[in-house]
Amino acid sequence: MKKKKLNKKVVIILSIILVIILIEVINPIKLYNKYQLKELGYQDNSITTILKNGLKKDILENKYSKSLDTVLASTDFNKDNYETYKKINYYNLKDYTKDINELIKKGYNKDDIENILKSATDDSIKEFLKKDYDKNVSSYLEYDYSILANYDRYLEYNKENAIEKDKIVTYVNIGLDKDFYTDTNKVEDFSFDMLVNKYNELDASFVPDDLVSVPEEYAVDDKQKANKTMLEAFKRMSDDCKNAVGSKIVIRSGYRDYQTQQETYDLYLNTYGKNYAENYVAHAGFSEHQTGLAADIKAESSETFEGTPESKWLKENAYKYGFIFRYAKETVNITGIRYESWHYRYVGEELASKVHESGLTYDEYYIRNLNK
Ligand code: DAL
Ligand code: ZN
Repeated sequence: MKKKKLNKKVVIILSIILVIILIEVINPIKLYNKYQLKELGYQDNSITTILKNGLKKDILENKYSKSLDTVLASTDFNKDNYETYKKINYYNLKDYTKDINELIKKGYNKDDIENILKSATDDSIKEFLKKDYDKNVSSYLEYDYSILANYDRYLEYNKENAIEKDKIVTYVNIGLDKDFYTDTNKVEDFSFDMLVNKYNELDASFVPDDLVSVPEEYAVDDKQKANKTMLEAFKRMSDDCKNAVGSKIVIRSGYRDYQTQQETYDLYLNTYGKNYAENYVAHAGFSEHQTGLAADIKAESSETFEGTPESKWLKENAYKYGFIFRYAKETVNITGIRYESWHYRYVGEELASKVHESGLTYDEYYIRNLNK
């Protein structure tokens, strides 16, 4: 009888111990916490950091955040910076958390940090972090098109040019703080939005897609070529111009290959001198004519384009057909090309409307909106 009682006690005690061990090991509360955080989207390493630092309540009150998940999972996570981490968007940088920590340490606020990170690459942020705190950083980096790697050039350019910061950033990104034809980029692929200018160059071997001959009815001779899509748009434009003002427009010079561009430049150089040639003709490889998307246009009614009814109609309507006017009087400092009332470039209807509406040169528009 006594033995039985004793056995019962032992069983009860052992059971209690077992339950305690089970609770400790399985820990349903902890399990539930983990479940909730995992449900929200957080990765295991982040959940460990969240629970260790008592951040669960705060995290669960908010939506899943990729930036928070990244910092929480990082060995560089610093609880003191938690409130700032919460306000910053995610950017694909190798040392995302460490970079934020260092920027905070230097004295940058969350807006500065956001502007810096969104403009950065892994290399440019490392260079930037070598510099002292700079209170003006956001005034240059606040734009979608700001590039952190160009930051020192923005500062330099600003010393010599008292213009708005958006212009400083745009012009430097184009390359205008350096001489024309300096530090040029190679443009490899044909596309309707391709930018070819004094900083963006085509290979001698580059030939545009779908090059076709321009029918004589739409050209000054039978030698003109252009991209097929561009030509179709040009023909419609010419027909509509005739309907509107009584005379049509034709292509005086469409596609020019590298060699022809070189010869054109040489001809201008020998005839009019270097200054004139530099301002009117692009170096071989740097001409939009090599894309097959540009045309020097002649008015049917006159040898001189400027002032003709055709030129006036074109200036107002070309964008509707996908063409943009390229070299205005006021933009010589940006394009490096003198006023050319006759030079139009095909980019497609949608883009042409946007460029037209922006009032910017294509060089500026491209650098702000299309630069990859
Ligand atoms: N005339 C234009 C600028 C060209 O040579 O491409
Ligand atoms: Zn031209």
